[in-house]
Amino acid sequence: MVNVVFVCLGNICRSPSAEGVFRKLVRDEGLSDVITTDSSGTSGWHIGEAPDPRAQEAAQRRGIDISDLRGRKSAARDFRDFDYVLAMDRRNYADLSAIAPKGAEDRLHMFLSFAPHLGETEVPDPYYGGDQGFDDVLDMIEAASKGLLDHIRKTDLAT
Ligand code: 4NP
Repeated sequence: MVNVVFVCLGNICRSPSAEGVFRKLVRDEGLSDVITTDSSGTSGWHIGEAPDPRAQEAAQRRGIDISDLRGRKSAARDFRDFDYVLAMDRRNYADLSAIAPKGAEDRLHMFLSFAPHLGETEVPDPYYGGDQGFDDVLDMIEAASKGLLDHIRKTDLAT
């Protein structure tokens, strides 16, 4: 099994959107039996909450349902439970770095490192902006999700 967790600050905008996009990609490729998906937030401010309604609507417009997802706080054990811990921005990366057990740091990546052609390092926080921000975030997430799946196929699933 390859276990993947997406991480942002609140776990109600970017990381559940990424989980939803990547989960659909995995399902569409028939890989649900070998790749698991989850998301969490470094802050713990929205534990138990559904994704932001704007994130749900933006995803729904692309045929992706994220209404079942609920906020959870990132923990050190994420580095044991998941092979890929994917940070949306540098702050998430630094916060995760600080709780990563020794020897597990290589599981931590900037999510957009899997879409180098975008020329961007961070998925910007759309929480305080308008609806367009959520669409822009989804474009970046879709590109990085494809890159991540390609990487996992080559690195973890190659026979
Ligand atoms: P996210 O966005 O990290 O993409 O889930 C945010 C959601 C909530 C807050 C900040 C960012 N907040 O301040 O509550």
